[in-house]
Amino acid sequence: MNRIADVLHGPFDPGGQPDTRSGNPLELGFFAWNLACGMTASKAVLSDPPRLRDFWHWDSAVHLNQLAERIGYEYQVPFARWRGHGGPSGYNDDALDFLASAAALVPVTSSLGLFSTVHVTYKFHPLHIAKMGATIDFISGGRWGLNVVTGGPNTRENRMFGQDPFDHDEAYDIADEFVTCMKWLWASDDPIDFVGRYYQSYGGIVRPKPRRHPRPILMNAGNSPKGLDFAARHCDWVFLTGRTLDEYRDHITQVRTLADRYRRVVRPATMVYVVMAETDARAQAIVDWLESEVDREAVWSFVANRDRRPGSSFVSRYGSEYDYNDPWFGLGREQFMRTAFGLGAWHLYGGYDTVAEQIRALHQVGIESILTCFYDPLRGLHQMEDDVIPRLRKMGLRR
Ligand SMILES: Cc1cc2nc3c(=O)[nH]c(=O)nc-3n(C[C@H](O)[C@H](O)[C@H](O)COP(=O)(O)O)c2cc1C
Repeated sequence: MNRIADVLHGPFDPGGQPDTRSGNPLELGFFAWNLACGMTASKAVLSDPPRLRDFWHWDSAVHLNQLAERIGYEYQVPFARWRGHGGPSGYNDDALDFLASAAALVPVTSSLGLFSTVHVTYKFHPLHIAKMGATIDFISGGRWGLNVVTGGPNTRENRMFGQDPFDHDEAYDIADEFVTCMKWLWASDDPIDFVGRYYQSYGGIVRPKPRRHPRPILMNAGNSPKGLDFAARHCDWVFLTGRTLDEYRDHITQVRTLADRYRRVVRPATMVYVVMAETDARAQAIVDWLESEVDREAVWSFVANRDRRPGSSFVSRYGSEYDYNDPWFGLGREQFMRTAFGLGAWHLYGGYDTVAEQIRALHQVGIESILTCFYDPLRGLHQMEDDVIPRLRKMGLRR
């Protein structure tokens, strides 16, 4: 007898939420290691391609993830990209797949959390991701997690799947049903009948179950009102972006209020793009170099393909009119540079003291984890080990 899935929307946490705490007040994630240039849209990467552009090649990618694990990073997150943005740097033109790369990291790491990022609207069925994710979680001893994104921003990527972008807010309704169905499949020992508006599964079952109890960790990175509501209903982590510390504070309050309403816990995190050196002046010299070589073509490709649908946080922050002839494409210098370096991430630029202080400031407004991305990941991770993590320990942010 199949079990009727009588809940089709979040909040839905059969068996409760998984424990996500590592014991460090500020947790560390390693971001965007799986694609060409990472998050640096600059021709500067061409000065040393194996190190600055092609670190996603498997030998260096393994080394970087092992290094992140050895110095105490809690987890890695790939950037899910189906089509790059070209330009002279070949920005994001090569990208390792989000599920295969997590699976491939299992035997070469032992404690690192292994996330995948899925665009739920790109024609997956929840059973595909529930099954593949359960397998990676099973073989890794409970280390797999999923970053759920709705996949709206990129018109060209949608076209690659033979479709037009979904309405911004409807994409989150689709994601809500998708994740509810996945949670049923992970939780139920009996086959389920799930009859939703967007997804149906008759006699659906996943065996073996994921190893982590009650299920794998889920994160989301939507910052629009609808995105925050989705995170509050379903996820354990939410990745927020803010232009100021006050904006972070507001977002964190909003998420906490929503999560309380749903009687859930959602931990706020953010992504940071890091350029650091011995002194502020030396870090600034690197930033000046990256900026002077900025890959305008690649940035334009990103901006022109970006989400213009009503409801998206990008449109509410920056409008939907972009101008190729404006030096900053109509975004203003600061936002242009934030887009080119880190796709809107918080910029941590400076000497080690400055960077550690900025991390403390983020933690003080409520950020519990930072997802770090470096223009030179090998150097960046070593700097974290030698110069930043020791300072964070003194601040009581790391054990
Ligand atoms: C930490 C982080 C990771 C993200 N990863 C991806 C990704 O891998 N692929 C992608 O297409 N979008 C990614 N995004 C973009 C978001 O999924 C989302 O499109 C964006 O936040 C806009 O959604 P909103 O309008 O609800 O705010 C990421 C955003 C953040 C902050």
